[in-house]
Amino acid sequence: MNTTLREIVQAMPKAELHIHIEGSLEPELIFELAGRNRVDLPYKSVEELRRAYAFTDLQSFLDIYYAGASVLLTEQDFYDMTRAYLERAKADNVLHAEIFFDPQTHTARGVEFGTVITGMHRALRDAHAQWGISASLILCFLRHLSEEEAFETLEQALPYRDKFIGVGLDSSERGHPPEKFARVFARCKELGLHLVAHAGEEGPPAYITTALDVLHVERIDHGVRCLEDRGLTERLARQQTALTVCPLSNIKLRVFDQMHDHNLLTLLDAGIAVTINSDDPAYFGGYINDNFIATFEALPLTVDHARQLARNSISASFLAPRAKEKYLGEIDAFFANCGTAPAVAQ
Ligand code: HPA
Ligand code: ZN
Repeated sequence: MNTTLREIVQAMPKAELHIHIEGSLEPELIFELAGRNRVDLPYKSVEELRRAYAFTDLQSFLDIYYAGASVLLTEQDFYDMTRAYLERAKADNVLHAEIFFDPQTHTARGVEFGTVITGMHRALRDAHAQWGISASLILCFLRHLSEEEAFETLEQALPYRDKFIGVGLDSSERGHPPEKFARVFARCKELGLHLVAHAGEEGPPAYITTALDVLHVERIDHGVRCLEDRGLTERLARQQTALTVCPLSNIKLRVFDQMHDHNLLTLLDAGIAVTINSDDPAYFGGYINDNFIATFEALPLTVDHARQLARNSISASFLAPRAKEKYLGEIDAFFANCGTAPAVAQ
């Protein structure tokens, strides 16, 4: 990748649509919060914790990710974590972020749902006021738990309905198909919540199909295994169902061996509305711009792809039509200016 293209993907305005806030907890903040809250960690130092980040698959990551989240106890902890992410996102020229959180990871430890969401929401408000970054929250149900437990979480969430825009489905995918959550997603749809689900990361393409047909989700998180099913690939392209792809995550969790093998360009060529996101940036080696750079370095992507990816991130967001128009205008203006530099014409 030439320097100009690198500068373009860094500087271009963009949205992030697949980020787990607990996955943005840097080891330094984990240790700071552990000290503040007198939580014992099974790691002696930041370095030792970082050395444990050698994952072999999704489950090996999730075990460490849930251990890291155990230091979060007070409203201020959730505020600090969310503020740190938003500051980092702002530096990567993120205009808008739709942020996942896993309430069950916290309520299972005795932390009130209200503590979690109030701290995060206050950070969103402050970041908007100070840095102009827009962000909203998406509540994820843990799919290794039961649908009944998801319903209980939804009940706890309803008094805070104004503080989140939708629900998603995350955690261990294999053996926990989307249809396990058919009734709770139907209830969420009635409540007017936006719906998304992780599908086709480690699980089969059939999980993408049931996420669409049974859960009625509006976006698929990951979804990279759709290419194993030609009919599904064509459907995603025809319907313009966006995929929130997370390239560094896919390498760290061994969905692909190396970035050269990633299917992101094939997905784009198939006409699918692909976006690039960071998933769990503190664990997978980088924030959204690191993901853009690693992908553009490994694959023959051009400035036109950069523009398409930036536009897709806004179009696939849950922003109101007017906000989308405004942000798409900012992206077009950005590319109209940099398009005149001969070095970027590829
Ligand atoms: N997949 C499933 N669950 C998750 C992930 C992921 O990539 N990150 C955090 N929880
Ligand atoms: Zn994810």
